[in-house]
Amino acid sequence: MLVDQFGRKHTSVRVSVTDRCNLRCTYCMPADTPDYAERREILTFEEITRVVRIAAGLGVDDVRLTGGEPLVRSQLHKLVASIGEISGIKKVSLTTNGILLADQLPDLLSAGLKSVNISLDALDESAFTQITRRPGLKRVLDVIAVCQEQGIKVKINAIAMRDFTEHQIVAFGEFARRTGIPVRFIEFMPLDSDGNWVESKVLSGQQILKMFSQQVRPVVPKNQPNASPATDYEFDDGVGTVGIIASVTEPFCSTCNRFRLTADGQLRNCLFGGDSGDVRQLLRGGSSDETIAQLLHDAVLSKHRGHGTDDLSFDRPSRPMYSIGG
Ligand code: 5AD
Ligand code: SF4
Repeated sequence: MLVDQFGRKHTSVRVSVTDRCNLRCTYCMPADTPDYAERREILTFEEITRVVRIAAGLGVDDVRLTGGEPLVRSQLHKLVASIGEISGIKKVSLTTNGILLADQLPDLLSAGLKSVNISLDALDESAFTQITRRPGLKRVLDVIAVCQEQGIKVKINAIAMRDFTEHQIVAFGEFARRTGIPVRFIEFMPLDSDGNWVESKVLSGQQILKMFSQQVRPVVPKNQPNASPATDYEFDDGVGTVGIIASVTEPFCSTCNRFRLTADGQLRNCLFGGDSGDVRQLLRGGSSDETIAQLLHDAVLSKHRGHGTDDLSFDRPSRPMYSIGG
């Protein structure tokens, strides 16, 4: 088992398959295309599958594929299939901006994908374009509808940013009620590549709940598994779920069960701080599974108790979000 110094069991890994993206969200990417990792630096599907197999031997049962935008990596469904075949892996899921999902959905479904998280911050085209610096809202809404028709579990993740998200609250509340799709708001974290994050731009989860209650309908807490960073609420008539991921104002580090593998093969035991182990070097240097397993153990053991964006010890991460994986 991957247990850290504080007794937290690590059963979930987020695998970034690319640092490339087809959007340029202001809270994540710079406006101009950044220096992406070189192709040779990016792990192959075989390398990723091997790391996940080793992690599964240590109790990891949940894998989420992220990016950048994971669907810009060609043939992603092949990775979904090979990870799904690993003994011990119970769930493979995907976090995507949805732009390329429609084309790839049939292959992803055949590969065994059952649920998808779609990142969508706005429900009107001008706000969508303002935040992503690209058009595409209709494509995203259309594929969400297709997922629903096909019975794929969909959740929406939206950024919670002051002076932006306030204008989306009513539309998202109505969307959650009309579609039954849960919408979660993630507090803006200091992971933007422009370095523009300041605390005053964070719209807190509590403020969001208040806005829902005042502008849509009162919300009441729902029961939920305690390893989830999201806290879910439903409207008081039982119709529609909205959640908050209060990473900044109410960090959930004490129940954290996850670590990350970046596209260029670095372990990260936390979104914040630095890299925590070079798996690529081991993979390409002929290391045994045992040596790689030891690196996973060491990465988890070196994990801090919390990230403390709210205290002075806060260590701004060395990579922006698109290069870590959400
Ligand atoms: N703060 C909060 N969430 C972010 N994401 C990307 N950058 C940030 C940030 N600075 C989110 C995306 C996506 C998920 C992978 O991470 O919107 O939903
Ligand atoms: Fe791309 Fe997601 Fe970053 Fe937006 S938040 S630029 S969709 S990786």
